[in-house]
Amino acid sequence: MVKLHVNVDHVATVRQARREAFPDPVAWALAAEKAGAEGITCHLRQDRRHIQDDDVRRLRAEITTFLNLETSLEPEMLAFALESGADAFCLVPESREEITTEGGLDVRGERDRLADAVPALAASGGLVSLFVDPDREQLDAAREVGAQFVELHTGAYANATGAERERQLDRLRDAALHGRGLGLRVNAGHGLDYGNVGPVATLQHVEELNIGFAIVAHALMYGVAAAVGEMRALILHP
Ligand code: PXP
Repeated sequence: MVKLHVNVDHVATVRQARREAFPDPVAWALAAEKAGAEGITCHLRQDRRHIQDDDVRRLRAEITTFLNLETSLEPEMLAFALESGADAFCLVPESREEITTEGGLDVRGERDRLADAVPALAASGGLVSLFVDPDREQLDAAREVGAQFVELHTGAYANATGAERERQLDRLRDAALHGRGLGLRVNAGHGLDYGNVGPVATLQHVEELNIGFAIVAHALMYGVAAAVGEMRALILHP
């Protein structure tokens, strides 16, 4: 069975828009666990635009499933990750201008930094995954630097339609098979939503899906009746 890991970054995006204490990504993570999430993912970005250092510490202390921390290869971020006690680390590329993670890691280009980071993170007790585009060369390189997992970037699949979506699904299928053949374990994520998740959830060898934005957006949309109704009741019956 494919596992669902819920990414809570965009709960923090809403909170940071007002620098309030709510909505709290940790409380949200606990609710997600209660609803069946098998793990919680967050990305501490260097610009701290959503998740804050203390959120990671509180997630570590409070969730009871599995904490997956996404991090870039910048020394400051790696130093934090090494102390975080996360169950798994997903190494991602990060640039300050991007709205979200735009592409997979260039594993070969980053070989030197990965050769240091992968064993160091593994020695801290977590599983190490590399976020990669579904290309065989990236998987070969991931194997070479000693990663246990790859997370296949599903963004191109999610953004495509019609025949191109089928082609992107074939790329993901091929990458999952190739990765498994190399002894890598395979996760997937990015851009998955309620309309496109099905075919990815049935790909052979994919163990876990990381999904964030669509779930937060869905909760906002479908939580509106309860949120307005409760406020209306408080105004009518103060
Ligand atoms: N996986 C990785 C490596 C990511 O960087 C992200 C976005 O933070 C996700 C999965 C989740 O993507 P989305 O928010 O589009 O579901």
